[in-house]
Amino acid sequence: MPTPSARGRLLVVDDEVELMRALCESLAEQGFQTHGLSDPLAAAPAVRDGDFDLLLSDLMMPGIDGIQLLRQTLEIDPNLVGIIMTGQGTIQTAVEAMKSGAFDYILKPFRLQQVLPILDRALQVRRLRVENQRLRGLVRQLTFESPRYQIVGNNPAIRKVIQLIEKVADSDATVLVRGPSGTGKELVARALHGNSRRRHAPLVTINCATLQDTLLESELFGHEKGAFTGADRAKPGLFEVAEGGTLFIDEVAEMAPGLQAKLLRVLEDGHYRRVGSIQERHADVRIVAATNKPLEDEVKAGRFREDLFFRLNVITIHLPALKDRRDDIPALVAHFLRTRQIGKTPFQTDPDALRALCAYDWPGNVRELANVLERAQLLAEGTTITLDDLPEVITDHGKPPPAPGEPEHPDRPDDLETVQRRHVAEVLRRYGGNKVQAAKALGISRRTLYRLLQKYGLTGADDRPGDTRPAS
Ligand SMILES: Nc1ncnc2c1ncn2[C@@H]1O[C@H](COP(=O)(O)OP(=O)(O)OP(=O)(O)O)[C@@H](O)[C@H]1O
Ligand SMILES: [Mg+2]
Repeated sequence: MPTPSARGRLLVVDDEVELMRALCESLAEQGFQTHGLSDPLAAAPAVRDGDFDLLLSDLMMPGIDGIQLLRQTLEIDPNLVGIIMTGQGTIQTAVEAMKSGAFDYILKPFRLQQVLPILDRALQVRRLRVENQRLRGLVRQLTFESPRYQIVGNNPAIRKVIQLIEKVADSDATVLVRGPSGTGKELVARALHGNSRRRHAPLVTINCATLQDTLLESELFGHEKGAFTGADRAKPGLFEVAEGGTLFIDEVAEMAPGLQAKLLRVLEDGHYRRVGSIQERHADVRIVAATNKPLEDEVKAGRFREDLFFRLNVITIHLPALKDRRDDIPALVAHFLRTRQIGKTPFQTDPDALRALCAYDWPGNVRELANVLERAQLLAEGTTITLDDLPEVITDHGKPPPAPGEPEHPDRPDDLETVQRRHVAEVLRRYGGNKVQAAKALGISRRTLYRLLQKYGLTGADDRPGDTRPAS
């Protein structure tokens, strides 16, 4: 087998054994490492096993011709540079050879001195191809490692998620992202879009839980003027806005059945209609959908169409709850203290605080962790986060529960207003500042929640990027 010290590693294929040997010998004298084959069918296995820079192949051979051979070997090593030798130099053969990926072709008979410059140039091309491949790999890695899309974690479940993203990002396949609130579903949607060839087109987000059915339909598909009261002009839907890009449909389980049927139709053949229009439109949009609900149960309960579920559930990415991957908490803490640093000096956590952060159950998952760390940076005296800077629910963790009848926090007043304020703040924090979900959990409307927040002077930290358009 060739050694790397050579000028270049050549695989020479010619069914005329004498010619092949002579060529190998004279090329070896010029400093090339050569490997000669008179059986063209042995070439593909040789490329698979060896590490060749160039393929120098005769055109007319029994069993397989030089052009087919080149195609085969390029599939094994796309960086291989091929040169075809031919006795019958017609324009047609030259064109064929080039079309199949040959770098050049040589007319037989030839003198070695004519061929050497071609071989040297071919080797240069080889080096460029290899270098390009290395850079492409690097770019891919960089996109993944750039903070915007960084999915932190080394837990096997998260590693699986990252592998799956790498595998499916560049396809147009519909992806369903599942996992509890705050586990990174939107982050995954961004990574899928950002690592696809659609990344230069828009990524548009719509949250089905924030809009009423009719509004949701016109947001998604657009409407014509006069389609409904208040539709005083035509408006394109998000499928049009996202043309060529990705549409992220969040909380897809909240979609009404009628609309589910329309979504199924776009997923199947790309067709849809604006509200109030009979004109068929076609969408070139990749769909990523997310849900934190057990869709199987929604299907059983008749709230979610089974056919849509099957259509969405082809490629599914499951995000684990943070408490099921506690080993990632220290890395996530370091990540958020670095990427969401408040002030000039980076913060650290002392060992007790880190222990408490690792022991807590995180019902709001990664979003809750990020918000707790943001708050802790604001509260900390120096640049070290201690137990004092963490919410009580976290530092209480591991303490025995209070005996029945005993107040949970003896030093806190128990009047209804204080309790309500505390409860609202706590629920909001648990949902990482997500008001839609906090309102749902509290069993009140969003408007009521806003009123309470105002009344109690609570702001509800919220790291969620807003929907593309304000909900009306
Ligand atoms: N593995 C992770 N590495 C780094 N940051 C993460 C990770 N997972 C989540 N985050 C961050 O946590 C926050 C919440 O993530 P995201 O909004 O993607 O969650 P979600 O699953 O969509 O939540 P919800 O169901 O409430 O919409 C974001 O700021 C996100 O950047
Ligand atoms: Mg989300």
